[in-house]
Amino acid sequence: MFEFLFKKKRSEKLFFHTDVHAHFLPGIDDGAKNPDSSQYLLESLMDLGVENFVATPHITHETFPNNYNTISGAFNRLKDHLKDSSLNPNIHFSAEYRLDELFEAHREAGELIPFPKNYLLIENSFIQPFMGIRDTVFQLQLDGFKPILAHPERYPYYHSDKTFYDDMHAQGCLYQVNLLSFSGLYGPEVKQVAYQLLKKGYVDFIGTDTHHRHHIEALKKFMQTSDYRKLEKSAKNILNNTLFE
Ligand SMILES: [Fe+2]
Repeated sequence: MFEFLFKKKRSEKLFFHTDVHAHFLPGIDDGAKNPDSSQYLLESLMDLGVENFVATPHITHETFPNNYNTISGAFNRLKDHLKDSSLNPNIHFSAEYRLDELFEAHREAGELIPFPKNYLLIENSFIQPFMGIRDTVFQLQLDGFKPILAHPERYPYYHSDKTFYDDMHAQGCLYQVNLLSFSGLYGPEVKQVAYQLLKKGYVDFIGTDTHHRHHIEALKKFMQTSDYRKLEKSAKNILNNTLFE
């Protein structure tokens, strides 16, 4: 009985207190639509034990051509809104950079917005790979950044690639896997690849990639499972909690 109580208690909080991937800045991408939604997402994640956040709104050439001004503007709107609440989260703003021509323009102009410690979250399109990804990662490293590939498990075209995951990681590209990939939310194949990456020791960061309340509900549900408790034990070496240290 006591063991049961202990397990229930543990699963009420996430096993990391820094979330490195979430879309809660209001009105600038496909995440929170307004400051009230932002507050709901932040409050919910804080209830689950998150204390530090890196806001990672999309920057994509085609759909969300954000830049420093739009992101810092949304951040300031959120901060203003939270003044009327009791919430006081530690938020650092950065971005989730789609590798495309806008990314190249920001990089060349020296306008990239990194995480603390100069990490930089990059992503591919889900439809097709960015062919120059290896060169781009190399260039970012030369520029002093530590690139993190967002949810590598979610790109179907890499699933059958026998060398991509090993090669990129050997090149020093870090991986951020979505917590909900382990739950099967994105399908069985994504789940399988997430566990393969975990087994290889390639899960450097875990992110919630929260966009809306459905993700919060899915997180709470997953946290009640034995799969979650096993993951908690095997993902002890992730870097999340070192980001703000
Ligand atoms: Fe994302």
